Parts: sequence; structure tokens; C-alpha cells
Amino acid sequence: MIEKKTKNAKEIRKLFLLDDSISFLNFGSFGACPLPIFEDLIKWQRLLEKEPVRFIIEYGPKFLVESKEALSSYIGAAASDLIFVPNPTFAINTIAKNILSHGDEILTTDLEYGAMDYTWKYHCDQVGATYIRQHISLPLKTKAQFIEEFWSGFTKKTRIVFISQMTSSTGLIFPVEEICAEAKRRGLITIVDGAHITGHIPLNISSLQADFYTGACHKWMMAPKGCSFLYASKEFQDTLDPLIISWGYKTHNPHSTQFQDYHQYNGTLDFSAYLTIPAALEFRTQHQWDKQIEKCRASVLKKGAELSSYLGTYPLAPLNDEFYGQLYSAQIETLYPEELQRILFTNYGIEIPVMQHGDKCYLRFSFQPFNREEEIDELISALEEIRTTTDLWVKANA
Ligand SMILES: Cc1ncc(COP(=O)(O)O)c(C=O)c1O
Repeated sequence: MIEKKTKNAKEIRKLFLLDDSISFLNFGSFGACPLPIFEDLIKWQRLLEKEPVRFIIEYGPKFLVESKEALSSYIGAAASDLIFVPNPTFAINTIAKNILSHGDEILTTDLEYGAMDYTWKYHCDQVGATYIRQHISLPLKTKAQFIEEFWSGFTKKTRIVFISQMTSSTGLIFPVEEICAEAKRRGLITIVDGAHITGHIPLNISSLQADFYTGACHKWMMAPKGCSFLYASKEFQDTLDPLIISWGYKTHNPHSTQFQDYHQYNGTLDFSAYLTIPAALEFRTQHQWDKQIEKCRASVLKKGAELSSYLGTYPLAPLNDEFYGQLYSAQIETLYPEELQRILFTNYGIEIPVMQHGDKCYLRFSFQPFNREEEIDELISALEEIRTTTDLWVKANA
């Protein structure tokens, strides 16, 4: 059998609606939906508008179940344990609202996503719980070092572990399998933020054995915005009240489990984005996405090393597949991250985030099959011009 030729970066780029004049190195923030998947969304919305009543009451929920089943096989979790939610922020708010008690400690790292930190702090303040952001030393040296440092934040009040499988500003994969296994041994509840994982890093939720897991489908799985999921293990499903009360709450006419009824059916909200999972999976198969992203991961390691070396800083972890996927963050010495980001975009047409996290700044590139390694060379040339013509940033070793 003749093997199908993989498309080159230019051909892949044509499948997206992205502005051709921009070097798009920021897939990580909000994803980007390829045209065939976007058209699938429009197809569902057209069906809805053709017969809104039948669609919302009858067909829509059937397609929702099919879409959830497709997602369930892809991420290794029973469909009955999954609910679609608009985004991971929604999922973590749902959990935090329900799970905390006075005096609890939630152990996490100091490298978590800002909106998640705010969510936990808000809900901790409501009940008198404490959110412990354990410091993680960078650069990471080994998984073992990470694990040891993480558990040094454990106390006898620790009841919950919250951790990202891949961090946002630093773009690192954390050893969540090991953390969840140890948390189980210690009798703790585990909550994993997998916002960057689905469609990016192979995922099997059942083998991870977390109590809760949330993932975004609108990032690396390339579904339209507003398509994400919350997994809850059976043991915890009935402890979760919905964030928004609607018809499924204490219904006299149950569709399925309490978990599904409480959280999945919410009045007239448009759930078309949730129906696009089969199209998103089909896109991956058709365009040999897994093969394509293997190449991207190799480019990340190569060009990431070059970027850090140019910036005079060290990679944040050993350069291998254990710690890196398609995101690479390099530390950059700047007092003006927002201005630097703005100039890279307006003067050079490069979309890339420059993020402050704690007292450090990071320049983070994403590498998708439509990116070329030369875009990182162009980024470095732009930075060099900015460095020599402005005071926006200084080389760490200058
Ligand atoms: C690690 C991490 N967690 C959570 C989120 C929240 O995603 P959303 O804004 O879609 O809820 C993000 C967003 O980039 C993220 O990077």
C-alpha cells in the first residue's frame, strides 16, 4: 500500500482561517479552528435554526451523546463520567464551589494558570480553606526533583491536590501520573488541569486515576471555542451541584444520571460547539495529525534550545519529550513584557505572548504543523533588532 504523503506547512496553513500576514506562534492561548471543523459548527447551528424546538429537545441531545462517546474513546474515560463545559475555568469553578471545607489545604504549585489561582483563592476565602502554592525550582532537573519539591508542601491539613498536566506560562509537562498515584496513597482528592493536553499529549484518564480532570477541546484539539470537558470519578459525581441551576436540577423527568442531568442541560444555551468532536477527530485522521505533531515536537526541542541560547538563558527543563510538547517558553529579561509583545505583533507581524509569571517573564512559542522553523529564526532577528534599537529588553548574559 502506498503511504499517503503528509502535507507541508503551507498546505496545512490553508486549512485554517488564520490571517496570512501573521506569523502565528501563539496557538497555545486560544487555539485556532480549521475550516472543516468550523464548517461543522455552522452545520449544527443551521440545523438548530431550521427547527429550534426539535433540535434543542430531540436531535441535539442525541448528537451530544454521540459526540461525548467519541470524546470518551479518545481520552479514555467513560462517557457517563464526562460532561461538556464551555472551558476549564468553568470546570474548576464547579469543583471548587462544591468540594472545599473549612480548614482544608489545597496543595498546588506556584506555576499554575492565573485564572485557576484566582478561582481557588476566591472559593477558599468563602469557606476558610487555604491554597498552598508550593514553589517549584526552575530549571527542573528531573521528575524526581519535581515530585520531592511538590510534596514538601504537604501538611496534615492537606486534603486536595490541584495540578496542571502542562503549565501555561512555562509550557512544561508535569509528572501528574506519579503525583496522582502518591496522592491516592495519602488519601487525597486529585484535580488535574489538562487545559493544554487534549489533542496535544496522549491522554488516558482511566489510567491516570485522578478524581477530577478538565481539558479544553478548543485548544490543541482544534474544536470551536467553548468546547471543553469535565471528568469526575463516580465517587464524586453526586457531590457536585451545578454552577448554574436549570431544568436538570432535581428534575421529575430524569434523562440519565444526576451528574448528567444537573450539569449537561442548560436551557437555551447553544451547545453546537459540543457536537463538533467527531469532526475534530476526523480532521486529525485525515491530515495525519499525530505524525505531523511528532515533527513539531522535534522542532520545539531544536528551536527552543536556539531561542534560549540567543536570549542567554537556560531551558526550563531537560530538553526531551518528558517535559516538552508543542509549547516552548524561554525566560526573557524585560521590564516591559506587554510592550514587547505589542511591538513584535505590530512591527513584525509575530503573534507571540510575553508573559509575566511571579517575578519572571517568559516568551512562549507554540509550534503547530503550519509553523516553519524559519519563523523562530525570524523571531530571533526581530528580537535582535528590538534589542539594538530600544530599551525594551536586555540579554540575561549581556
Ligand atoms: C494551564 C491552563 N489552565 C487553564 C486554562 C483556562 O482555559 P480557559 O480560559 O479556556 O478556561 C488555561 C488557558 O490557557 C491554561 O493554560
